[in-house]
Order: sequence, then C-alpha cells, then structure tokens
Amino acid sequence: MRLAGTTEEITCSDSILVTGGAGFIGSNFVLDWLAAGCGAIVNLDKLTYAGNPENLASVENSAAYRFVQGDICDAELVTSLLQKHKPRAIVHFAAESHVDRSIVGPEAFLRTNIDGTFTLLQAARAYYGSLASADQERFRFLHVSTDEVYGTLTPEAPAFHEETPYAPNSPYAASKAASDHLVRAWLHTYGLPAIITNCSNNYGPYQFPEKLIPLMIANALQGKSLPVYGDGQQVRDWLYVGDHASALRTVLERGRVGETYNVGGGNQRSNLEVVKTVCALLDELVPESKFKPHLQLVKYVTDRPGHDRRYAIDARKLEAELGWRAQESFETGLRKTVVWYLRNASWVENVTSGAYHQWMTQNYSGRGEKVAAGERTR
Ligand code: NAD
Ligand code: DAU
Repeated sequence: MRLAGTTEEITCSDSILVTGGAGFIGSNFVLDWLAAGCGAIVNLDKLTYAGNPENLASVENSAAYRFVQGDICDAELVTSLLQKHKPRAIVHFAAESHVDRSIVGPEAFLRTNIDGTFTLLQAARAYYGSLASADQERFRFLHVSTDEVYGTLTPEAPAFHEETPYAPNSPYAASKAASDHLVRAWLHTYGLPAIITNCSNNYGPYQFPEKLIPLMIANALQGKSLPVYGDGQQVRDWLYVGDHASALRTVLERGRVGETYNVGGGNQRSNLEVVKTVCALLDELVPESKFKPHLQLVKYVTDRPGHDRRYAIDARKLEAELGWRAQESFETGLRKTVVWYLRNASWVENVTSGAYHQWMTQNYSGRGEKVAAGERTR
C-alpha cells in the first residue's frame, strides 16, 4: 500500500506525532519526552479552550519541537503531516475530555473523539502501509484512553483490570469507548500496530481549572465556594500526570502491539477527602489567606447526572510486564501540584480570563509552521 501520490517506500524519521499535545496530559508528555531526549515531536493540536501553547513555551524554540495548529478531523492535514514528518509513532491524546461538558453538549465529543480518531486511524493505516518493513516493525499507534470506559464500581468490587467489560456511562466515556473499539478494529482488521492505555484520574501542572483539583485550588484562593457534587463520597483513583507521562514513554518503548495497559497509581480517595486535603495544604502554604480555614468554602451542590460512584485501576500488568512504577504518592503529588498553582497564578488567570488566546494570536499567527496554513500543501 502507498500513500496517495507516492510511489516509493517511506523511511521513518526519529520523530513522533503527538495529537492534543497542548492540553493537560499532552503538554506534560511533550515536556517529559523532550527532557528525556527521546527524539523530536510534531504536535498537532486544534487549540480548543483546553489547548494552551503557553504550556510549551519553554520548548517552542527547540529544534526538536514543532507545533501545528489543526484538527485531527482534517484528513488532508493529517495525511500531509505523516508524509512530511515520517514519524515512527503516533501518540493520540486529542479529545474532548470533560465529563460535565459532554453532558451539556455531547456533539463535540462524538466529532473529535470518534470521527477524529477514525480520521487519524485511516491516515495512519495508509502511512503504515507505505513504510519499509524495518520501519513497519517499530511503528506504533498509541491510543491514550481512560478508565471511564469500564463504567462504575461498587465499594467492594475489585479494581478495573484489562479484561473488565466495557460499560461506559457518560457521553464522554461512550465516545472514548467507541474510539478504543475503532483502534482495536484497525489493529485486528488492517494490522495497524496499535496499543491502548486506559488511565485513571490525572492531576498536576497545566490542568484546566474545570476539573476537580485545579478548580478547588483556584476557587479557594479567591474565596469562592468549593462545589462538591452530591454527597462527595464518589471515589476516584488519582495519578500524578508526570507518572502518566513516564508510563506512556514506557509503553511506547516496550509495550506489546495489540495489548491494552491500565495505568494508575493506587490512590483511591473520595472527592471529599481530596477537597479536604487541598484545603489543608492551602491553609498551610498560604497562612496569610483571609479565607482560612478553606474547608469552610465547601458547598454541596446537585449531583452530576449519571455520576459514576467509584473508579479504581489495577495496574499490575504494566508494572509486572514493563517494569513501570508510579513515583509520586497522592500526598507528594498533590503538594507539588498545589505549590505549582500557587507559583503559577498568572497561568490560571490567563486561562480563566481567555487572555491566552490573545497570547496565542500574538505568538502563533504568521510564523510558518505554527499556523495550519504552513503545513498545508494546497
Ligand atoms: P485536555 O482537555 O486537557 O486536552 C485535550 C487537547 O486536545 C487540547 O489541547 C485540545 O486543544 C486538543 N484537541 C481537542 N480537540 C481536538 C481536535 N479535534 N483536533 C486536534 N486537537 C484537539 O485533555 P487531557 O486531560 O490532557 O486528556 C488527554 C487525553 O487523555 C484524552 O484523550 C483523555 O481522554 C485522556 N485521559 C485523560 C485523563 C485525565 O484525568 N485528564 C485520564 C485518562 C485519560
Ligand atoms: O478517570 C479518568 C477521567 O478523569 C478522564 O478520562 C477525564 O478526562 C477526566 O476529566 C476525569 O474525569 P472525572 O469526571 O472523574 O474528573 P472531574 O475532575 O471532572 O471530577 C472528579 C470527581 O469530582 C468526579 O466524581 C466529579 C467530582 N466533582 C467535579 C467537579 C469539577 C465535584 O464534586 N465538583 C466539581 O466541581
């Protein structure tokens, strides 16, 4: 098989193509990958509200990093990027990621998470077919997914493992489950060398303050109420984002094609426990705050519709087979995270006020490949 318009076999470069690399986990992955000297990265990101190139300002002039603003649903763009950069792998983060938004407006989730993944798979399949056999051997399509595809657990149930049947409950989870199934089908039907990871809740630097932990930090610092859904006894299994980045690096280098790997750090906490810990850290780290004790800001609000009660991840396959281990406990990771948000108050201010879109316009228009037009051949 050949890419349209090509007659010769393509030889991979050492770069990888990342989608959604300007988001929370994607930007942490890009920084980790470049710091580890693993090779060059081409980052394709549409820059929705959740994408922020400011996260990657420290590497934007690096010869090993290239940013392309564009949509994974744009087949022509994706195909031209693969032809031009000849990546040895695709790491697919791009998605609509917030459950609450998926309840209010599921359309964007179906478009990006399902149609976008389909578009990427088709382009990847054609590209893979054009590679020389040695490059086919090492090519990987790594699909970054979530534990939410497994549905919800009772308090006594064992943690999700790789064989747990899919039972997604929210529009977000259903769209991610659909994308996982597409990846599986492209692997089995067309031989695309894919691997899927299903990870638990991440937290850490650069997380958009719509998600639980950064929202609680941002609101508490401003004396705003801390909205706890329902009774606050829902359980999530928390993983520091740097540990997720190292897990993905491990899977990319040593994971077996066709396998799925669950990723998690074994940190189950109820939402109320999480909020209490954030408040205690803020009491300690911001002793002059006039909103102390911050826990007084908690406000119980109407529950999320269809709210999953508990997630927990069994990551023993990843640990035993590939030797990965999370480095941060919930306590060390959360302290690092709170300190990061305290030191980066302007980042929160920029993303909540929308100022980063101005920053983006000033920094990214008319500068070659940083705008989509620079990558297009038409
Ligand atoms: P995020 O919302 O912070 O970032 C998503 C990124 O994708 C943004 O930069 C956005 O601009 C980009 N994007 C969205 N639509 C796009 C499109 N059509 N084309 C190109 N780019 C597009 O998300 P995140 O929390 O970093 O999650 C990244 C991935 O990891 C997602 O696939 C998510 O399902 C998965 N995941 C997230 C978590 C978590 O706790 N956040 C846990 C497990 C898995
Ligand atoms: O489990 C992995 C998933 O974790 C990822 O796939 C998703 O992309 C990511 O957003 C996250 O989903 P959650 O819905 O678990 O994350 P969120 O931060 O939105 O909520 C965490 C818990 O906190 C959840 O039980 C809902 C609750 N919550 C959330 C918010 C924003 C509150 O009680 N109050 C809030 O204001």
